Amino acid sequence: MLGDNDEDIALAAQTLARGELLGLPTETVYGLAADALQPHAVAAIFDAKGRPPDHPLIVHVASMDQVTWFAADVPAHAQALMKTYWPGPLTLIVKRRQGVADVAAGGHPTIALRCPSHPLALKVLQLSRQQGVKGVAAPSANLFGKVSPTTAEHVREAFPHLTVLDGGACQVGIESTIVDVSQDTPWLLRPGMLSAAQLSAVVGRTVQRAPAKPSTPVSAAPGMLASHYAPRARLRLLSLQDIGQLAPSCAGSLAVWSRSPVSLPAQVHWHAMPANAAECAHALFAQLRELDALGVAHIWAEAPPEDDAWDGVRDRLQRASSASV
Ligand code: TXA
Ligand code: MG
Repeated sequence: MLGDNDEDIALAAQTLARGELLGLPTETVYGLAADALQPHAVAAIFDAKGRPPDHPLIVHVASMDQVTWFAADVPAHAQALMKTYWPGPLTLIVKRRQGVADVAAGGHPTIALRCPSHPLALKVLQLSRQQGVKGVAAPSANLFGKVSPTTAEHVREAFPHLTVLDGGACQVGIESTIVDVSQDTPWLLRPGMLSAAQLSAVVGRTVQRAPAKPSTPVSAAPGMLASHYAPRARLRLLSLQDIGQLAPSCAGSLAVWSRSPVSLPAQVHWHAMPANAAECAHALFAQLRELDALGVAHIWAEAPPEDDAWDGVRDRLQRASSASV
């Protein structure tokens, strides 16, 4: 495990430059990182995760000036979003320069780009750039379909032999917001902690959630599977009232995560869900792991509020619940 000191950060950058894999902390979740332009290194990411090769990766850069190495076209609204929210938890899908990062892009004509704000991620990206690494491909550092990692320890559990840079617990806690800006109409492909309203304010028009099966030719997020982020226990999203009413029926093997306390049979485990969306996102994946580790058959989470500040958390909880049916 590497830590927050100059020597280890240099080792992390060298690991990438050599074409090896690295567990990289970002402000959203930990990434399983490799040089985006070394095909064997990128192929090793797909192998390690068990991820289908046509399911494209996000390429991470240290600053906006690296975008033109990968993008064929950066429209004005994409530039405005980068200027406002980079470095930060925002991924942009742009048209890809032909022949560049084919493996990372899964052969798609577009590419996902992001500049993370975690100070260690930025340092590693800057240092590896000096060693010729033009961008770093990194999906979340979990096995395909499993709960995303928000600590270095989570990464180590999934990949015991991987070199991991320990950057502490991820501040945001859920993956970046993804916006497709490769066509005239921007589409929100994956909600995160940057809300549709925040994006729309910068773009100057409403950025809408892309339909699940788009009738318009957007680059539908390949691999945005309904079943994702799965805990082992069966997860359900319920109102507080339903939790209270139904709990006695499976009290023997139940954990509840809710914003307010609720009257429950004595043997049910109860954990407090933060009442604030950002705090809830920060806690989400570690909490799912912790509840799962209790060995219960059922986890019931209180359904998040309807407002758009909760879109990212709601999306992850819904995916995790449809995965564990
Ligand atoms: O916060 C994050 O975005 C984290 C950290 C490590 O940066 N990364 C992450 O990567 O969540 P991953 O691979 O778990 O999710 C990437 C998502 C996938 O759903 C993929 O389908 C989508 O981005 N994606 C990547 N390239 C795309 C493209 N060209 N067109 C549409 N969707 C794309
Ligand atoms: Mg992922």
